[in-house]
Amino acid sequence: MPEEPVILRGVADLRGQVAAWRKAGETVALVPTMGALHDGHLSLMRLAKGLADRVIASIFVNPAQFGPGEDYERYPRTETEDVAKLATAGIDAAFVPTAREMYPEGFATRVHIDRLGDVLCGAHRPGHFDGMALIVVKLLTSALPDVAIFGEKDYQQLQIIRRFTADLNIPVRILGAPIEREPDGLALSSRNRYLSPEQRRIAVALSLALKSVRDIVKAGGDPSAASATAREQVLKAGFDSVDYIEVRDPASLELVTAPGKPARVFGAARLGTTRLIDNWAVE
Ligand code: PAF
Repeated sequence: MPEEPVILRGVADLRGQVAAWRKAGETVALVPTMGALHDGHLSLMRLAKGLADRVIASIFVNPAQFGPGEDYERYPRTETEDVAKLATAGIDAAFVPTAREMYPEGFATRVHIDRLGDVLCGAHRPGHFDGMALIVVKLLTSALPDVAIFGEKDYQQLQIIRRFTADLNIPVRILGAPIEREPDGLALSSRNRYLSPEQRRIAVALSLALKSVRDIVKAGGDPSAASATAREQVLKAGFDSVDYIEVRDPASLELVTAPGKPARVFGAARLGTTRLIDNWAVE
């Protein structure tokens, strides 16, 4: 039987555990998650284990990053299964706070990200990135790990985290990890479990359409025309609507309108009540 991770419920427990490891001269990595762990998360855990002596995974479905009418209530909460997966992955500790622990009575602080937070998902999920930044600032400053790891599937989130970590002088190295995909190309996501078998068949169309934009732009094609074609493909495949398919600069997230520039293809589309996102780097 693999050893269970230590379960930490309070910020003080988290700090105490990290202090004990530090006292023993050990380095610490943090992998923040909202639980419902899949192989994508586990690839982050593996990376973390190679980078530090001790690894903490946090599991917290953060109410501040969900808007009205979004899936906060139905977001999968699978703590027992998650902890078993963390044990198998050899993770040392799981920080699993309650909403009350993270947002106690009287909580009144906001974090707002200009520019990077206004485009792509920021334009379609008002307040999402501010809520995400708020919890990540709290997690980073509570644990103060040497390194924190985030998946590139949420690439805009990763860039925003890099920005505010630098802006706020948070002394933590931020590392991005590559997207893990199903054999057909669908990016792994906790939200994939919302999909019916029929929707699952359709879902891969988003990843494939973004990949074809990647190929066209890489070959010198026009980013806007390729994005417009991809939007048609995704709708034709059975998605209900497309929030965006755009080619943007990987660092500034500004729109790329001509080939030959550093670029990444981003997309978000809705299938029934499920919103899926994905992105591909243009090498
Ligand atoms: O990517 C996620 O799972 C969440 O946005 C994060 C970074 C754990 C913050 O709640």
